[in-house]
Amino acid sequence: MEIVTCTAPVNIAVIKYWGKRDEKLILPLNDSISFTLSQDHMCARTTVALSENYEGDRFWLNGKEESMDNPRIQNCLRAIRERVDLSKGNNKDILRWGLRICSSNNFPTAAGLASSAAGYACLVYGLSKAYGIEGDLSQIARQGSGSACRSMDGGLVHWYKGEQPDGSDSFAQSIAAVNHWPDLHVLICVANAGRKKTPSTEGMRRSIRTSRLMQYRVKESVITRIKDMTQAIENKDWSTFCDLTIADSNEMHAVCLDTFPPCIYMNDTSHRVAALVHRYNDQMVAQGKKDLKICYTFDAGPNACLFVPGAAVSEVMQLVLANFPQGEHQFAGDYVKGLPVLPHELSEASQSLVEDATPGCLQFLIHTKVGDGPRLLQDLSSHLLDIKSGLPKDYSG
Ligand code: DP6
Repeated sequence: MEIVTCTAPVNIAVIKYWGKRDEKLILPLNDSISFTLSQDHMCARTTVALSENYEGDRFWLNGKEESMDNPRIQNCLRAIRERVDLSKGNNKDILRWGLRICSSNNFPTAAGLASSAAGYACLVYGLSKAYGIEGDLSQIARQGSGSACRSMDGGLVHWYKGEQPDGSDSFAQSIAAVNHWPDLHVLICVANAGRKKTPSTEGMRRSIRTSRLMQYRVKESVITRIKDMTQAIENKDWSTFCDLTIADSNEMHAVCLDTFPPCIYMNDTSHRVAALVHRYNDQMVAQGKKDLKICYTFDAGPNACLFVPGAAVSEVMQLVLANFPQGEHQFAGDYVKGLPVLPHELSEASQSLVEDATPGCLQFLIHTKVGDGPRLLQDLSSHLLDIKSGLPKDYSG
C-alpha cells in the first residue's frame, strides 16, 4: 500500500484569470500571474492512500464525505493514472487499487480565498506522489480548477494560456523566486468569510456571454498588461507592479459589473479598503517614497488582499486597524491571524488618513508572506487517514 500527506498553498492573482476558451479542459482566454502565499498560515492538507484492500474510491473534504463522481476530480485522476510509468518499477496493479483521499483547509472554503486552488493543487500533488509520477503537474491541476495550476509553484507564477486546442501548452511556472521582493508582506482583509454568491465558473461563463468589456479585456488590455507586468517584475519596479495589480483587479470587477445580470463581488467595505490604499499611496508618492506604495487585489469575493513592503508593514497594519477597528462581538479568536503585529504608533501624517472608522466591518485579518510550492510531509502523524481502515482518523461513521 501507499500513503502520502502533503500541503499546498493559496495563490492570489495580480493579473486575473477570468474566462475560459475551453470549459472541459479548463483553458483560459488570457495569461495570468499570481503570488503564491506562505503555507504557514493558509494551506490545504491532503492525505492520499492506495491499497489493494480498499474497495472502490472514497473522498472526504473538511470532515464530510463527498462524491468521487465530480468530473473535475475524475479528470485529474484520469490524467494522473495515464502518466503512471510502469517501466519505472511501478506495480501495474496500483492502477486497480482502491483510493482514499482526505483533505482539509485551514481557512474558510469558497470565501474568495482561493480555497479550490489550494485544494486541487494539493490533491494533484498528493496523487502524483502516491502514484510515483514526475514532470509538470500544473497541466493536471489546471483541470481541477484553473487557478490551481498556479499553486503548483512558489514566488511569482505565470500561467501561460497556450494556443493548442488540447491544452498541451497551457501550463504554469515560477517566474520569480519567493524573495524576489525581499520581506514582502501580505495582508488579507476578510470582509466576509461566507460562501460567495456567484461561483467564479458561472461568473466567467456569464461574462463571456454578455460583457463587451470582456472582449476588450481579452483582445487588448490584458495582453498589454501581461507584458508590462512581466517587465515590472524583471526590473523589480515595485511602484509599477502596484499600479498594474490595482488596475487589473479593477478591470476584472468592471467586467463583472458589465456582465448581465451583473456579478457583484466587492461590497462597501471592499471599496473603503481600496480607497484607503489610494489615500496612503498618494501620500507616499507626495513624500517621494514610491517604494513604500502598497496594492490591493480582489478575487471573486469582497476580501481585499494587500501586498505591503516590509518597511511599511507596521504603519499599514496600524492604518488598517485604525480605519477598521475590531467589533465588540468579534472576540472569538484573534482579530489579526498569522504573523504577529508589532506594537506601533501611527505617524501624524497617517492619522489624517483615518476616515469613518466603524468597528466590525472586517471579520478578521490574515497577516502572512509570499511562499513556496506544495510540500510532502515526512512526519507519519501528519496523515489524515488511518492507514489500515482507510478512514479519516477522526471518523465517527
Ligand atoms: C477571480 O480557478 O476558481 O480568482 O477554473 O472555474 O475553477 P475555475 O475558476 P477558478 O477562478 C479563479 C478566478 C479568480 C482570478 C484568479 O485567480 O486568477
